[in-house]
Amino acid sequence: MKLLFDNDPAKAIESGRTMAVAWFKKLSEDAGQIQHIHSFMFRVMAAYWSAHHLQVSLPAVPSVIKFCDLDSGVIALAEAVGKAAAQLEVIDAGYQLGTLYTSILPPAIRSANGIFYTPPPLTRRMLSMVKDAGADYASAKFLDPACGGGAFLAPIVMEIVAALPVTDPETILTHIEAHVQGFDTDAFGGWLTQIFVETTLKEYTCPVGRRLKSLVKICDSLSVDLTGDARFDVIIGNPPYGKVKLTDTVRERFSEGLYGHANLYSLFIHLSLNLVKTNGIVALLTPTSFLSGEYFKNIRQLIRSRAAVSEVDFVSHRKGVFDDVLQETMLSVFRNGAVENKPVSVNEVTIGKGQLQLTHSGKFNLSSELTAVWLLPRRKNQCMMIKAMTKMTHNLTSWGYRVSTGPLVWNRNKSLLTAKQSQNGLPVIWAESITPDGRFEWKAGKKNHMPYFRRPESNPVLVTVQPCILLQRTTAKEQHKRLICGYLPAEFIKRTGGVVVENHLNMIIPSAATQVAPEVLNAFLNSKTVNDAFRCISGSVAVSAFELESLPLPKASKLNGLSMLVQQGASGDEIERECRRIYRLK
Ligand SMILES: C[S@@+](CC[C@H](N)C(=O)[O-])C[C@H]1O[C@@H](n2cnc3c(N)ncnc32)[C@H](O)[C@@H]1O
Repeated sequence: MKLLFDNDPAKAIESGRTMAVAWFKKLSEDAGQIQHIHSFMFRVMAAYWSAHHLQVSLPAVPSVIKFCDLDSGVIALAEAVGKAAAQLEVIDAGYQLGTLYTSILPPAIRSANGIFYTPPPLTRRMLSMVKDAGADYASAKFLDPACGGGAFLAPIVMEIVAALPVTDPETILTHIEAHVQGFDTDAFGGWLTQIFVETTLKEYTCPVGRRLKSLVKICDSLSVDLTGDARFDVIIGNPPYGKVKLTDTVRERFSEGLYGHANLYSLFIHLSLNLVKTNGIVALLTPTSFLSGEYFKNIRQLIRSRAAVSEVDFVSHRKGVFDDVLQETMLSVFRNGAVENKPVSVNEVTIGKGQLQLTHSGKFNLSSELTAVWLLPRRKNQCMMIKAMTKMTHNLTSWGYRVSTGPLVWNRNKSLLTAKQSQNGLPVIWAESITPDGRFEWKAGKKNHMPYFRRPESNPVLVTVQPCILLQRTTAKEQHKRLICGYLPAEFIKRTGGVVVENHLNMIIPSAATQVAPEVLNAFLNSKTVNDAFRCISGSVAVSAFELESLPLPKASKLNGLSMLVQQGASGDEIERECRRIYRLK
């Protein structure tokens, strides 16, 4: 079978992938779907292997993998893709074929196990960060605790071969067997890893006519029992992420880094810190949410109490870098055992046309408070803002405000929502009552959004009788503003006798002692300047109470000028200029 673009292997594989995805979609309800996927990928890999003319047979498929018969057309497609991949460098072939595998996996399996393979430019970048952190490829022992299809292990093996001062094949193979280890729950991914590693080493395996022992242990890394000297100089990888329910044993094992909901990748950070040697290096590709989320405060503390953070790269593409991944991602390097608070070197990384562009943003100190959010510039143009924020020692709490989420979860109280006002009924405040320009305008315009709530005698906690700032709880980073808030005034509450605030809003509630009037705080939070400040600490769609309370703020008296402007009804431009002055931005 001939693939489209057969003179360009990467494009040819891409066209093969499109055909394979279409074919496997048709199978989606079929109970034997996984067997079909494995059978197809087996044919791809057999063709890839045989095109490399390796003198040893294809590594044995783990016994848990079961195969089935395929149509001849599908077999021909698999063989054409495998052959095309053999024309690529091993690391690129590994990514292309790995991505083919992940894109035909059922989405539910893929997301439940966090199966998204790392593109080669990011793999190469991480390997060079590890080198910069001082790893010696000729002697270090490496572990990827979620090795997938070998995105890291195959290039690590290449680096080791280049660093070793010997050329004798047997010595090289023995060294690699003793110094490179992968774990993964996915036996098929582990088999792919072994193939790419062995292809990398064909120059050494062929002359001695033996294959490399398996480098991958098929296991749940979070439960694996490693005792004694089973520690590593470098732990590297792109761990799975997503909320998980933990068994009691796993929760107990990782309790020190947990707070509330567990996210898989945070457990892998903890695991890496447990498995790395003193002075060893941990280099992980993760979402950015651990930098600021409340649920991650204990893992932040654990990292800072056990290791020094030496370098962080922020990957600035949301879409397109990873196949189907929408999380904001970062690469970070920690050195275990070196807990001094040295400045962190921060870079912005962009990927275009397979090439990685690196811009150094500068060096930044993390807070001495170990659970605190990490104030680091995700973009180079945030550096001035970060420097200003680092000097600010106040926050909403010290300004006399507290933040809580709107108490009404509408689908748990459906029977109390009404279209018409009834006796004792109260207005429901939905997120759309806050206009993008920062005003409160009561409305219930969206589907299922009823305007009134029948006041339940039994549940007074749902009722708000205090004026406060209402701030939307979900805004994407692509949105013009992340902080969309409006002031719910006393007159409205007086007229209605109270309101019921829905759960998609945060309530920023003043105490009697506050020195910043709510109208002034509302103007401040709605400014572009404070929105830019908030973007420095939050990369997810949620605007949480914790992140709002973590936002560093200046002394309340610095807002005196803004307060006068608000009282005078100044224009948006004048308010913006004053906010920039507060942050000492030009
Ligand atoms: C994001 S992928 C990364 C794979 C590979 N390291 C790469 O960068 O391309 C995460 C991998 O973690 C594996 N995984 C998920 N849960 C795991 C667990 N509890 N123990 C070991 N591996 C796991 C998945 O099968 C998947 O291969």
